Amino acid sequence: NPSLRALAERAGVRIGTAVDMAALADDRTYRRTTAREFNSVTAENVMKWESVEPQRGVYDWKPADDLVRYAHAHGQVVRGHTLVWHSQLPGWLTTGVADGSIDATELRGILRNHITTEVKRYKGRIQQWDVVNEVFEEDGSLRNSIWLQQLGPSYIADAFRWAHAADPKAKLFLNDYNVEGVNAKSTAYYELVKELKAVGVPVQGFGIQGHLAIQYGFPGQVAENLARFEALGMQTAFTEVDVRMILPVDEEKSATQASYFRRLLDACLGARSCKSFTVWGYTDKYSWVPGVFEGQGAATPMDEEYGRKPAYGELREGL
Ligand code: XIL
Repeated sequence: NPSLRALAERAGVRIGTAVDMAALADDRTYRRTTAREFNSVTAENVMKWESVEPQRGVYDWKPADDLVRYAHAHGQVVRGHTLVWHSQLPGWLTTGVADGSIDATELRGILRNHITTEVKRYKGRIQQWDVVNEVFEEDGSLRNSIWLQQLGPSYIADAFRWAHAADPKAKLFLNDYNVEGVNAKSTAYYELVKELKAVGVPVQGFGIQGHLAIQYGFPGQVAENLARFEALGMQTAFTEVDVRMILPVDEEKSATQASYFRRLLDACLGARSCKSFTVWGYTDKYSWVPGVFEGQGAATPMDEEYGRKPAYGELREGL
């Protein structure tokens, strides 16, 4: 009964999961299963800015260090998530910008320092960094974040240049949701990558989160989307796959979910550029979905007791 990890190793791909550090500390089954089933890990929260610098100049690296150490001990690579995002920012930063005590010039320095400090700390130990996360709206316009408002669109190129200077070997990714298929948002990324590459910005990967919901159907033109990024010389990765549903679970929903996991995995395995497929948690016991999407859940390949669902079986079949 080979693990997902064993099959992935034969296939030459990374199979990853987001890791909940509280669960890793408290739950022995979680620790064992994370090591057995995956050869890549992503911090679900502990590498985010609010977690690593909760007060200005006061850093808390402990849980992120713990994850990097766990990964090393178990022969896993680490995806770094995430350096520049509009969400989960520390209060001192959002407050400072809102009340005008941090102006644009200072903010740019703060961002540069944040990226440099975090990337250098894990230099050589992070395979891929999600440098910018969720920078576009659904219609393909740039998201109206504090970064865009204060620094203008050049913050994106700057972030990649700063990250590259801090760890030249790490593969640097853009990352977003609702960009599985060809649509206005993924096309905005495609155009951005072309522009960045044209002026020599170090960007190497396009991360597709892959947060699907069965009630919305499966996205169209996933293979075509991967192919067009590949044609630009980009790596691709599925970085946060889960497939939620409106509860309660039934057999049909569970089968649809399984097929959605499989179809994303097949798209990855069918693209030379895609060597990494990460789920956003693998057990419903710790999934973020019920807390955020009311009435929805059961989004991962294992139930709350680590029982394998049809989705787990499809991932295994696909690998
Ligand atoms: C989520 C985590 O899973 C939650 O625990 C947290 O409360 C909020 O963030 N896109 C991302 C991830 O890039 O960082 C988000 O993770 C899920 C959506």
